[in-house]
Formats: sequence, C-alpha cells, structure tokens
Amino acid sequence: MPPARACAVADVPTPGALQVELPGPDGASVAVAVVRESDGTLHAISDTCSHQAVSLAEGEVEDGRIECWLHGSQFDLRTGHPDSLPAVVPVAVYPLTVDGADVLVDVSAPITTAPEGA
Ligand code: FES
Repeated sequence: MPPARACAVADVPTPGALQVELPGPDGASVAVAVVRESDGTLHAISDTCSHQAVSLAEGEVEDGRIECWLHGSQFDLRTGHPDSLPAVVPVAVYPLTVDGADVLVDVSAPITTAPEGA
C-alpha cells in the first residue's frame, strides 16, 4: 500500500497531536496520532493507548514523548515504548513523510510493531 494522506502539515498543532483515521492493509481503519514536537519534528504513532485504549492524540507532547491523558504513561515518539507506568506494551510507530503541504503516513509498514493483541 502506498502512504496515504493523513492531514495537512498546518493541521497539526506545535507542539501537539491530531487524530486521523487511515485505511489499513486489511481494510479496517487505523487510528493514528500525527504528532508535532515543539521543534517542528513530525511523527506518526498509533493513536490507541496500549493500557486502556483511549486516544493518545489528546495528551501532552513534550521531550520526544506523548503522555496519555488518562493515567500519564509517556510513549516515546520514535520507538512507541512507554517510559512510565501503567502502560507496559509499546504502540506502533509508522513511517511519515511530508509532501509539500501534506503529511503522508504508511500504516502498512510500521517502523515498530505493537505485539499481537496490544
Ligand atoms: S489509558 Fe493510557 S495510561 Fe492508562
């Protein structure tokens, strides 16, 4: 699958995150958080917290991490690993490219993969 347009670059707050839904390889939609750090660096990470399935895009973005708003686990934006409890399972990180004014994300080829069932 080619990368899909997720949003406009201008749609993503700095710092902050935007939740988008993209078509996955099996036809089901995949919830992705497009995240921008305060220095402008963009990331695409699974939007679903591995602890209790809330949206990570609603959390704070700081120091290369996004913090789950519900219980405070902080997920590394490059690896998807939670750096603090209560979450212990990583979330998927996806390849992101910028094409002009658009953000493209490839959900079919995660850089890091969450374990099955996460
Ligand atoms: S739901 Fe995200 S840390 Fe609990």
